[in-house]
Amino acid sequence: MLNRYVSKTPKSQQLYRKAEKVLPAGVSYFLRYIEPYPFYTAKAKGSKLIDVDGNEYIDFWLGHTALILGHSPPEVMKEVREQIENGTHYGTAHELEIALAEQIAKMVPSAEMVRFTNSGTEANMYATRLARTYTNRDKIAKFEGGWHGGYDALDIAIKPPLDVPESGGLTSGTLRDTIVLPFNNIEEARRRIKNERLAAITVEPVQGAGGCIPAEREFLKELRELCTENGTLLIFDEVITGFRLAPGGAQQHYGVLPDITVMGKILGGGFPVGAFASRKEIIDHMNPILHERPKFSFHGGTFCANPITMTAGLATLKLLQDGQLLNELNKRGNNLRQKLADIFEKNRVDVQVAGVGSLFHTHFTHEKVKDVRDVFRADRGKLLNYHMHLIMNGVFFLPTRTGALSTAHSENDIEKLLTKAEIFAKKN
Ligand SMILES: Cc1ncc(COP(=O)(O)O)c(C=O)c1O
Repeated sequence: MLNRYVSKTPKSQQLYRKAEKVLPAGVSYFLRYIEPYPFYTAKAKGSKLIDVDGNEYIDFWLGHTALILGHSPPEVMKEVREQIENGTHYGTAHELEIALAEQIAKMVPSAEMVRFTNSGTEANMYATRLARTYTNRDKIAKFEGGWHGGYDALDIAIKPPLDVPESGGLTSGTLRDTIVLPFNNIEEARRRIKNERLAAITVEPVQGAGGCIPAEREFLKELRELCTENGTLLIFDEVITGFRLAPGGAQQHYGVLPDITVMGKILGGGFPVGAFASRKEIIDHMNPILHERPKFSFHGGTFCANPITMTAGLATLKLLQDGQLLNELNKRGNNLRQKLADIFEKNRVDVQVAGVGSLFHTHFTHEKVKDVRDVFRADRGKLLNYHMHLIMNGVFFLPTRTGALSTAHSENDIEKLLTKAEIFAKKN
């Protein structure tokens, strides 16, 4: 299979030789590395990526799941083109940031006020700081397998071995101040935080990087109660689920409201973004007119609320707000997961098709997958082969990662995935 990949991607191989001299591992994010080298994308449109060798791929990775309307959707691009003529970056207050914050407050049930950042990582960082300021507590908790970006306090226990730090440079103080809890296991979570005074518990309602594993509804409900009982803020990291599971994200889907919501990806309409939202009483601690140091919690940045991002985000949310496109996408996702499961079952391949709504993943195991430990007990080698087989056949998943649907995917695109999955299932 690797020989076929190499013979189809000679220009990418040449580019990789140049890239590895100036970019560690030849990429700007190791996640995007593919063995023996990544293909380099030349352009993208709708549901398709085209690489520098002219190979076309149906894209189920969708820019880390951000592109719910596909690549460069015409309705959004039109507004962006107009905005470019009016300035790309103001560095002053402007109307578009108000409009997008109002739109978020309208759609996301627990969001009253918003602050914008440039990435989900930053949004989690400032949300954590806000929770610490508001509660006047240091420690926080997160779940095994939860990915919230590279911010020190949350870049812990992402994948097995869970007790080995994910990165160098995390101080012992950081590691001590973050308590790690088991996902989808409220009893054990309750036991582990019994003697702690936590500022916040951060949770992804559907673990994305952790294997596309939805939280159980009861688990989230009880987590909400646990936080309320302990004066701990509940933070939902909705960077993936926001504006995807429902117009109001996972909190609408599950009917459980957090104190702080972290957003990103879809919110940027294809441009870099992050945001966090909360009720006025909490997030007003970012207003130094109301709260002096040390009750004031700083947030800011050169490109925050960039007008291009605000324009693209607003155009995107307006298309998603009535829920019609998302309902349709969720139905197509349910259907796709069912069909994938049927294909593997028919061919007697042990697979758990994970996910919810328009998010999906395949884990090669006969055991139920309910957390990242189960995900890593599954046959990861087979998963890699499956994704490489799909890439070789013009269907792109970032190897071993979650897939997502966009409104740009046609029925033919989905049929092609199913056909190629079946060929793999028959051979395995
Ligand atoms: C749930 C979740 N939170 C936070 C992040 C970090 O966002 P960003 O990559 O924009 O910094 C990600 C990124 O994949 C994510 O999936």
